[in-house]
Amino acid sequence: MVWSNNCLKLLDQTLLPGQVEYIYCHSWERIAEAIKKLEVRGAPAIGAAAAFAMVFGAREAAAANSWNAFKTALLSVSKQLAQTRPTAVNLFWALKRMEEVVERFDENSSPGEVLTALEQEAIAIAEEDKAVNQKISKYGASLFTAPQAVLTHCNAGALATVALGTALGVIREAKAQGNITKVFVDETRPLLQGARLTAWELHQDGIPVTLITDNTAGWVMKNKMVQSVIVGADRIARNGDVANKIGTYSVAVLAREHGIPFYVAAPVSTFDFSIKTGNDIPIEERCANEVKSFGGCCIAPEGISVFNPAFDVTLNSLVTAIITEHGVLRAPYEQAIEKLYQISKKS
Ligand code: MRU
Repeated sequence: MVWSNNCLKLLDQTLLPGQVEYIYCHSWERIAEAIKKLEVRGAPAIGAAAAFAMVFGAREAAAANSWNAFKTALLSVSKQLAQTRPTAVNLFWALKRMEEVVERFDENSSPGEVLTALEQEAIAIAEEDKAVNQKISKYGASLFTAPQAVLTHCNAGALATVALGTALGVIREAKAQGNITKVFVDETRPLLQGARLTAWELHQDGIPVTLITDNTAGWVMKNKMVQSVIVGADRIARNGDVANKIGTYSVAVLAREHGIPFYVAAPVSTFDFSIKTGNDIPIEERCANEVKSFGGCCIAPEGISVFNPAFDVTLNSLVTAIITEHGVLRAPYEQAIEKLYQISKKS
């Protein structure tokens, strides 16, 4: 994503890999629509896009004739942005950061200085994400000490962040260090983020990719074709339970059965320090048509009932390590995440 000349430029992820087309957003409503439609997706990217949406929201709200009316209007925009997608906590984290900027001002402040501060905060959120992913990549690559094949699920790459990616950032860095021979990419039904986005990103980088259907992952592990798994996350609870794309839990169970390490790469902004376990994570349910059709064709009987959760929760006991910008966390996660919380409060 690129912010320039008061415009947020997003690569339309619904059209990849067939078409590389950009969306030019000039309003908060267009960004909200892009988040809802998954034109922009992935936890950190959703957070950063929402921050820029708040800049547009603030400009609109600045037409109000009092400080209180401005704040009410902007909070209403924030509320509507918060309703776009429920699971990735980065969205709420970014909106809170933007709301906190407004709290630094009062009715004596000039609208210009408030708007400038909001724009600077959105730019900072985006810039920090780039730096954070570089750190995650370095810490994560240290876990890959010998050449090996890795498996990933969904897309936790540059497309899902502001740059580089979390899980794919680690893969990129470990590859540069000579320790990745091949990446197995789960196609990631129903919206195929693996096939359409991860395979595209890695292929563009010249990293060897082998695309598999989601139900091939166990067989690949059984045949010792893969030595580790790494995924991103949408929300991590205080006990280390991890919400990520539906199917992640199955991959983690399979990895445990086959004695393969299961790594999660995520920034502090993906931790929800307010919830104790993964049971408290709201799981987005999406429309039945995503499952009932494939490539525009109906593949199930009309009127059939469908369960289509977009995410699942992997229990902390299945997670070998969580890679953050502050280092690699290992069980017992309650203690490790408490330390991370204390660090995050200071920075
Ligand atoms: O529904 P999506 O495509 O937004 O889901 C994305 C994922 O599950 C990613 O793995 C997660 O957001 C991590 S992105 C660094």
